[in-house]
Amino acid sequence: MSSCNVRSADEDIWTRQIFLTQLCSQEPSKSGTAAAVSIAKQQPWQLSVGSDGIRVMMESALTARDRVGVQDFVLLENHTSEVAFIENLRKRFKENLIYTYIGSVLVSMNPYKDLEIYTKQHMERYRGVNFYEVSPHIYAVADNAYRSMRTERRDQCILISGESGAGKTEASKKVLQYYAVTCPASDHVQTVKDRLLQSNPVLEAFGNAKTLRNDNSSRFGKYMDIQFDFKGAPVGGHIINYLLEKSRVVHQSHGERNFHIFYQLIEGGEDDLLRRLGLEKNAQQYQYLVKIVRKALSVIGFTDDEVEELLNIIASVLHLGNVQYGGEDSGSSYITTDTQIKYLARLLGVDGTVLKEALTHKKIIAKGEELMSPLNQEQAASARDALSKAIYGRTFTWLVNKINDSLAFKDDSFNSKNASVIGLLDIYGFEVFQNNSFEQFCINYCNEKLQQLFIELTLKSEQEEYEAEGITWEPVQYFNNKIICDLVEEKFKGIISILDEECLRPGDASDITFLEKLEDTVGGHAHFVTHKLADGKTRKVMGREEFRLSHYAGEVNYNVNGFLDKNNDLLFRNLKEAATQFKNSLAKLMEILMSKEPSYVRCIKPNDAKQAGRFDEVLIRHQVKYLGLMENLRVRRAGFAYRRRYENFLQRYKSLCPDTWPNWNGRLVDGVSSLVKHLGYKPEEYKLGRTKIFIRFPKTLFATEDALEVRKHSLATKLQSSWKGYRQKIKYRKMRQSAIRIQAWWRGILARREAKRRREAANTIRRFIKGFIYRHQPRCPENEYFLDYVRYSFLMKLHRSLPKTVLDKSWPTPPPALIEASEQLRKLCMQNMVWKYCKNINPEWKHQLEQKVVASEIFKDKKDNYPQSVPKLFVGTRLNGEDINPKVLQALGNDKMKYAVPVTKYDRKGYKARNRQLLLMANSAIIVEEAKMKQRIDYSSLKGISVSSLSDGMFVLHVASEDNKQKGDVVLQNEHVIETLTKVAICAEKINSININQGSIKFNVAQGKEGIIDFTSGSELLIAKAKNGHLSVVSIADEIMEIISVRNKKKITGLFFDFSDCPSPQLKMMDES
Ligand SMILES: Nc1ncnc2c1ncn2[C@@H]1O[C@H](COP(=O)(O)OP(=O)(O)OP(=O)(O)O)[C@@H](O)[C@H]1O
Ligand SMILES: [Mg+2]
Repeated sequence: MSSCNVRSADEDIWTRQIFLTQLCSQEPSKSGTAAAVSIAKQQPWQLSVGSDGIRVMMESALTARDRVGVQDFVLLENHTSEVAFIENLRKRFKENLIYTYIGSVLVSMNPYKDLEIYTKQHMERYRGVNFYEVSPHIYAVADNAYRSMRTERRDQCILISGESGAGKTEASKKVLQYYAVTCPASDHVQTVKDRLLQSNPVLEAFGNAKTLRNDNSSRFGKYMDIQFDFKGAPVGGHIINYLLEKSRVVHQSHGERNFHIFYQLIEGGEDDLLRRLGLEKNAQQYQYLVKIVRKALSVIGFTDDEVEELLNIIASVLHLGNVQYGGEDSGSSYITTDTQIKYLARLLGVDGTVLKEALTHKKIIAKGEELMSPLNQEQAASARDALSKAIYGRTFTWLVNKINDSLAFKDDSFNSKNASVIGLLDIYGFEVFQNNSFEQFCINYCNEKLQQLFIELTLKSEQEEYEAEGITWEPVQYFNNKIICDLVEEKFKGIISILDEECLRPGDASDITFLEKLEDTVGGHAHFVTHKLADGKTRKVMGREEFRLSHYAGEVNYNVNGFLDKNNDLLFRNLKEAATQFKNSLAKLMEILMSKEPSYVRCIKPNDAKQAGRFDEVLIRHQVKYLGLMENLRVRRAGFAYRRRYENFLQRYKSLCPDTWPNWNGRLVDGVSSLVKHLGYKPEEYKLGRTKIFIRFPKTLFATEDALEVRKHSLATKLQSSWKGYRQKIKYRKMRQSAIRIQAWWRGILARREAKRRREAANTIRRFIKGFIYRHQPRCPENEYFLDYVRYSFLMKLHRSLPKTVLDKSWPTPPPALIEASEQLRKLCMQNMVWKYCKNINPEWKHQLEQKVVASEIFKDKKDNYPQSVPKLFVGTRLNGEDINPKVLQALGNDKMKYAVPVTKYDRKGYKARNRQLLLMANSAIIVEEAKMKQRIDYSSLKGISVSSLSDGMFVLHVASEDNKQKGDVVLQNEHVIETLTKVAICAEKINSININQGSIKFNVAQGKEGIIDFTSGSELLIAKAKNGHLSVVSIADEIMEIISVRNKKKITGLFFDFSDCPSPQLKMMDES
């Protein structure tokens, strides 16, 4: 494999793209936050994807329909308008929403850029979720098929169609990746998953090539079965390949390339080889690619030897291509490139001479004998090319078989009949080129068949659904393409039969004779026309060598040039012709597909320039037509635009009707029925099936959606408020519980404190009682507390009740142990009070007290009314200057008057009472009557003073009888007897001369005559002359005095003096302090 020549030009750029494509085929897209961010950017309405985001997404997708079109074409109001259809595609494509449904069919636009919608998170989002609940996605289709397979135990197939470059292979890889990631797996299953995934890069290396339409165009059709065990784990697979475009090995159109594997291989070769090939080495990329393919091959289970052999064969095809011929004069050919033969012989393991002969001769059988006949130069080149194609084609088949071997599930316990299957069909889409040949004929025929299947199955399933739901089926008008299929495949009369016949017939069969035969046989067919048969207008756009078929998707002109050659397998004439082979394999494929429940993915390429974001309307309209999408939509819409299971419908719209909100408890159909009646659906707008409601017009649904949108706002407010209320309630309860807990805790503390206090109190009491019992014992532990307590409490009590005044003699009784101390304290306290008292005393008060002391000395315990006099302050004088007659005052002159008081004088004879004033002067006492000084008694002649011991106010001043000026003793009486006499005693210095008599007082009347005053007690004061000539004085009895004094006491404000008539405020204050 050293020196060989590759025919097509090389372009590095695409190799890089292939490299990337293959890398992508192995690696799932990036995941994580970047992906999320990019989704957010690309699909603003999908922002809210969380765990519960799916529902939100679905709803917002429905409500955001104005902005991003409808996500199901069935909901297009004007469903017959291609313009509206394309407009919806455009709107969504602009928002990077590349997927849209037509019912259950997925329409997929090739974005020509990496969208972050294939992450693991996306896969998780679509897993196990109802088809309608999520935005359209290839994963939804994959998941739906998987779930139907699991739950209904029905085999599934996913049919992916679309024109070259529309994204079929990418879609099929996405489906595979989805299963690889989301299906359950064991160790064995992991290997199967790996092999399933790795079969892609291998098949792409050998079966894909760069074409004008697609840098990684699949040049073969592929049907892949994925087998699942009862647990739903992928356990095996099987691949069927269709119609590999072998001619590419020997010829490529301008700008196209051979199969990828050749480029990958030669770039692994030596430098001089590359130089001769005129290729620039980009070893890194190519070597890496070879590595990827080699690794994939080893994952699939190829041994090193097998890989080596495979590459040998690929190299030998390259060498074959470089075999050149020379021509003899005889016309026979010879090989000019012997080195190629050498390599070929070695690589293919054949004898070089035999190979040479085979490349320049043909075998003919004449009369039962085999003869070798030389080929001319042109024939030899054809033979060489045929060999190349055959080798490559068979290698490819071998490769597919090897892959199938490796994917086959080999566990004996596994009964493949129990396996469920999902088939993936990635087959070339409808192709219309400037020049359409045999291949396009086959491909378009294939698509015609698939369309037939699609229409049949779609209509069938639609019909079945109506039947199942008990709804009358109204026939749908659609284009039945059986007529075209028949035109191509009918036995004897079909185009393929005619072609086979032409190939096999002896004589000079050619492409032109084939065309003529067609004209003869099917010339009258409505979908067939040739240049000759066409009208003038059609003729202008048709070549003479062309025939035109009116396919369901449009008209295609086929050039018959090469039809015979391509149909003939030059090497093996005894085998079936290519077209028939293909027809048969297609028939088998149809059988396979018919046995399964189909899902459809219709791929559309947005432009021919492989550019992202470019929406080529003409190209797209073309594809919409060729894919039969409008037809598809019409079928789907023929009956009802929208159908939904009762539970789903009710769940979504129940809030719009009071009967069904918040819950409907009756039968679902009744719930839906009252709901739609409440919404005002007209009878022609809907039908109720067994499990589903069918709505005829999208506008009915949209009106309901709009109502829901409005309702949602009020519901949201309601929900919000009840949620807030609920939250508050919870908060309140929590707070309450906390408060209770704190309360309980605090109460516990308090109770414990209380208990402790009680315990201590009980202990104290116990100790106290014990102490009390032992109180008379000497101090010991049992009684020390008690004793201390008694002392303490005595001292405290003392502290609280210390006498406030010296007169207060109260004093708490001390415990025996403190008797002495108590006595000491008492003395101290008294001393202190006295000291304090004395300290605060003023001269005036001192004078008062001195007088009081005198009074006390004289009267205390001797005269009954003394105690009443004690609290009454002595006043300076009871008569002021104005009370005394001015004449008297004048007569007194400078003699200072010390005290004056009104008195009652009793006559010495008749005891008549007369009002007089008693004035005490410095040396004498004077008795005054008005302006007359009736009697002056010098103190020196005052012999004594007599009073009774009772409470009367009588007093007698005894004067010396030898004093002639005097008229005898004076009998006087006044209310202030104690005060008056104290003053007299002090002024006259006669303190010891006051006699207090019991019973009666004798007094000197005059000149030796004696008078007697008798004192008795009675209820009221009575002074009168008795019959015995005595003066009888009834003084108020002690008991009565007491009552009076008690009555008076209330008026007493001072502690021991009555200040009520006290003239001196200063005195009063002092006493208070
Ligand atoms: N979903 C997608 N996301 C991003 N790019 C895509 C997607 N689908 C297709 N492409 C791009 O379009 C290119 C062509 O897609 P693909 O090979 O799947 O087309 P195809 O329909 O299989 O064509 P053919 O019939 O020629 O095989 C891919 O290589 C890729 O670059
Ligand atoms: Mg493809």
